[in-house]
Amino acid sequence: MTATSPLFTGLTDQAADGLLALMLAYRADDRPGKLDLGIGVYRDDSGTTPVMAAVKAAERILVDTQPTKVYLGVDGDTGYVQRLAAIPLGAERVRDERLIGMQTPGGTGALRLAAELVAANTAPRRVWIGTPTWPNHVPIFRAAGVAIAEHPFYDPLSQSLDLDGMIAALETASAGEALLLHGCCHNPAGIDFTPDQWERIADVAARRRLIPIVDLAYQGLGRGLEADAYGTRLLFDRCETMLLAYSCDKNFGLYRERTGALWAKAPDAASASRLHVAMRNPARAAWSMPPDHGAAVVRIILESEELTRQWRDELEHMRRRVLGLRERLAGLHPALAGLRSQTGMFAMLPVAHDTVMALRRDHGIYIADDGRLNVAGLTDAAMPRLGAALAPWLGDVRAG
Ligand SMILES: Cc1ncc(COP(=O)(O)O)c(C=O)c1O
Repeated sequence: MTATSPLFTGLTDQAADGLLALMLAYRADDRPGKLDLGIGVYRDDSGTTPVMAAVKAAERILVDTQPTKVYLGVDGDTGYVQRLAAIPLGAERVRDERLIGMQTPGGTGALRLAAELVAANTAPRRVWIGTPTWPNHVPIFRAAGVAIAEHPFYDPLSQSLDLDGMIAALETASAGEALLLHGCCHNPAGIDFTPDQWERIADVAARRRLIPIVDLAYQGLGRGLEADAYGTRLLFDRCETMLLAYSCDKNFGLYRERTGALWAKAPDAASASRLHVAMRNPARAAWSMPPDHGAAVVRIILESEELTRQWRDELEHMRRRVLGLRERLAGLHPALAGLRSQTGMFAMLPVAHDTVMALRRDHGIYIADDGRLNVAGLTDAAMPRLGAALAPWLGDVRAG
């Protein structure tokens, strides 16, 4: 290359991220009745994503009282990390000397930090991931240099969970390999493990000395705040070590504020501070110090009994609204009845890729390429239209 030759000229075409491509296609569609059921955000019945009232109140306090904008430090807002930990882990585990944590830019930042930790500090450098999963999981771990091992999980067309297949695959895993698990409201499959199923998973993870990485991005939007933390707490209690990648972006409605945290349980109190440094170093190299606003807002909410109660009420209202929409969606056609047993913001329609494309092309209805539909983006008004558009593709299936 000479000093005058142009740069970035030898690039080959790269596949665009599916969901980002979907957002662009939706924006470019100028049909007035287009429907965005792709991107995973909560919407109210008017189709907007409001700022939660508890968040607005906390923001006013923040603006009035924040004394400075100096850097937070690599761990972020430690008051936020400390108070928030009790929501997924329960108050007694927060006092455990083996627990360490830090603020991250969103759940994505937490996952990337977990991946860096696995890449730099485990010999197998491998993570087990069930299919299907959130499409960003594999790129996040690959980008950190972690190899992916896929295990069976769910078949969308027959709407069946393959837990036996998953456990059988994990029985072949080696000590020190990581195991990525959706803590609740699986994205995209909508599966939530029952306590018995969590027992089996915790048992194999503990026996084979795997490192569970729980991705908890929807706590409170499935069966409720406590029930949604069941698996996380069980893994914490059973496994030598585990990581928890948390996002407040859905359950506090903070999306663009990129509000997350990563906690780790060290094998013993003596190794906790070394593990903390091993977490701080890649964070320092990636973002140095996290953004403040979202974490400060969450901390202010959790410091106030009144704001905490208001946030819990608002979250519960959102959860119930999504449940109602899921019920109506499942009632649109007998082939959709199985969606009733799924939880969370997403439903995986039992449809092939052709149907996904036809919905987009013929009706301006945008769902993800794998058939994932954002239930939380539906409105009562949109329901009949969706039913009519789907009917020819679902066939003459009888309930039962
Ligand atoms: C399963 C899952 N994990 C993590 C995330 C990341 O959340 P955040 O927006 O906080 O980065 C998402 C976001 O959609 C998700 O669906």
